[in-house]
Amino acid sequence: MAEKNLIAWNVDEGDYPSSASMDEKLKFLLRYAVLAPSGPNNQPWKFAVNDGEVVVMADFDRTLPDVEPANRTMYMSLGCVLTNLLLAAEHFKMGYEVERFPDGVDAETIAVVKFKEDAGKPQFPPDLFDEITERHTNRGAYDDRPIEAEKIEEMKEAIDGAGFKFDVLTDTKSRAKMAEILGKSHKIQLGNKAFRKDLARWIRANNEDAWDGLPGYAFGYSDFDSFFGQFIFGTFDTSTSRARKEMALMNASPAVGVLSTDAEDKWIWVETGMRFEKLFLTATKLGVRFDLFSQPVAIEEIRREMIEILDVNHPQILIRMGYAPPAKHTPRRTVEMVLAGK
Ligand SMILES: Cc1cc2nc3c(=O)[nH]c(=O)nc-3n(C[C@H](O)[C@H](O)[C@H](O)COP(=O)(O)O)c2cc1C
Repeated sequence: MAEKNLIAWNVDEGDYPSSASMDEKLKFLLRYAVLAPSGPNNQPWKFAVNDGEVVVMADFDRTLPDVEPANRTMYMSLGCVLTNLLLAAEHFKMGYEVERFPDGVDAETIAVVKFKEDAGKPQFPPDLFDEITERHTNRGAYDDRPIEAEKIEEMKEAIDGAGFKFDVLTDTKSRAKMAEILGKSHKIQLGNKAFRKDLARWIRANNEDAWDGLPGYAFGYSDFDSFFGQFIFGTFDTSTSRARKEMALMNASPAVGVLSTDAEDKWIWVETGMRFEKLFLTATKLGVRFDLFSQPVAIEEIRREMIEILDVNHPQILIRMGYAPPAKHTPRRTVEMVLAGK
């Protein structure tokens, strides 16, 4: 990995500072937290480390007001961060307690995690730790072979718990229905200029040295095409071609998943993100790739269609699933860049 903005991925557990102070150890755990996925790789997080505590905060300067005013994906992304942090703590034999929204649900502090040196009862399968540095979103075409039933079962178990549900659709008709829903949502969202401008802020050329955002290569664009990406995306309505391409990819994939919840509020979105990251790491372990879509659940009329088809209360994310060679990682800010020093 030669690019500077990918160095965060080079974390090596052999560098864990076992004889340093608690706060130095916590800063090391954060090296795993920052590898979490987030909406358009906007990394809407900041942290403070004080006296054995990690304060996990939302960074409201990194939200997408025209794409999703409710900030659902921001809260879900912060949940993904929490899973990586707690999984790393369990790996290095630390115990922890999580306090939710200590300053209220509208405050920037999402959680305060108090750590102690002796391990508590683990809540994650230990083998998921090694997958944190392997996990990535894969937007390419998937192999034409089914995902084995026992792997689907293991992924469903990763979501287990009252109030959360993971539907996996493998038959041609159901996948086509979800592809249609995805196509419709692309047309509505990408046809809207304010939405495009909001998202264009996170689109990058392949060779940009930004520490966040979506490089063109994540969508299979050449260096040349990616150079014009932000301008084209922000300026023109490309919804028809994008919808056609993504519908074809979904129809040709062996499975489509939808993660849903019985109820929803800000903490449930955080918890959905925590479980979603556990699911994503489990899939990575099983060799199953994910491509993610938050668009359909952000548009009320499309969301209602999903609710009817799936007979669920609140769909939270749509996932295309299958097998493919690994894709390249996307940039991440380093721990030093996200420590707010609060
Ligand atoms: C809650 C959530 C929603 C996401 N929604 C989308 C989406 O709608 N479209 C998309 O292309 N990627 C989506 N992603 C994937 C992110 O763009 C991806 O995680 C990010 O670019 C970092 O790349 P990585 O997952 O390869 O580390 C989403 C990720 C999360 C966590």
